[in-house]
Amino acid sequence: MKTAITELFGIKHPIIQGGMHYVGFAELAAAVSNAGGLGIITGLTQRTPELLAKEIARCSDMTDKPFGVNLTFLPSFTAPPYPEYIAAIKEGGVKAVETAGRSPEQYMPALKAAGIKVIHKCTSVRHSLKAEKIGCDAVSVDGFECGGHPGEDDIPNMILLPRAADELKIPFVASGGMADARSLVAALSMGAAGMNMGTRFVATKEAPIHDNVKQALVEATEILAGGLRPEDELAPEPRSGPGPEAAGAPPAEPRRPSEKVLTPEAEIVDQPIDRLKGQPRTPQEPPPPPPPPPRR
Ligand SMILES: Cc1cc2nc3c(=O)[nH]c(=O)nc-3n(C[C@H](O)[C@H](O)[C@H](O)COP(=O)(O)O)c2cc1C
Repeated sequence: MKTAITELFGIKHPIIQGGMHYVGFAELAAAVSNAGGLGIITGLTQRTPELLAKEIARCSDMTDKPFGVNLTFLPSFTAPPYPEYIAAIKEGGVKAVETAGRSPEQYMPALKAAGIKVIHKCTSVRHSLKAEKIGCDAVSVDGFECGGHPGEDDIPNMILLPRAADELKIPFVASGGMADARSLVAALSMGAAGMNMGTRFVATKEAPIHDNVKQALVEATEILAGGLRPEDELAPEPRSGPGPEAAGAPPAEPRRPSEKVLTPEAEIVDQPIDRLKGQPRTPQEPPPPPPPPPRR
């Protein structure tokens, strides 16, 4: 298939493997590139520019197809030596860089001078337009579904992608929740020129991730990674004091997985969201009624 993205990066299929900290090593990037996509080494997983140079060399030994490097710009007290990382990318002959985190504007001259194509990862249309303005060749539009950092607008791809297609002149790939051929067809139908996947590539033999995690991803339903199925019933939520049953109310129905509270783990994951919204997810239960006075 030919799209603006396959043309831009010289690849066979319009599929990109997004940078993933501690996942995107040479093995995964080379496998994706050998299969006709664009594999990406995660630059900052390599602690120094010298180590990145070695990782790029390892990847070049494993594939003769194009691959890229991800450079994530995040606020930090001691910024990584980005110019040296860019020098390692340039000297390694890499022609594609995926930038993310914040605007790559200050590094664009160096990247462009080295003939590198830049695809910037954005979670909003306004950031995509800024990327276009500063000379990025493409953008990866990351909906709220994405793994990694989903931005702050919480816009899902069904809304974000058509909006990006309305506004952008440069090509973009759809990213976030993409997993198979159906995702690619949907992405193309919404105006994207390809797709970017992260989580799906975690469940591959080339990803250096524990097998149990991969198995959980493969078995996951739409509700929960870890194999919980819609027909699974959960035990009633444990209470600390006597519940309404003590006052003669019927016992609580078993909870269904579709309810928000799934497992102790899920409750822990959910907690920050509750704090963020400044209110508890479920209304506080009133204290149980006092026991009746003993009869004489
Ligand atoms: C484990 C993991 C680590 C990630 N680390 C990074 C990162 O370091 N830099 C970055 O730009 N994106 C990172 N991402 C985001 C991915 O590149 C990609 O945009 C995202 O996973 C797409 O959404 P999906 O997981 O639904 O396919 C990471 C994603 C995952 C799942």
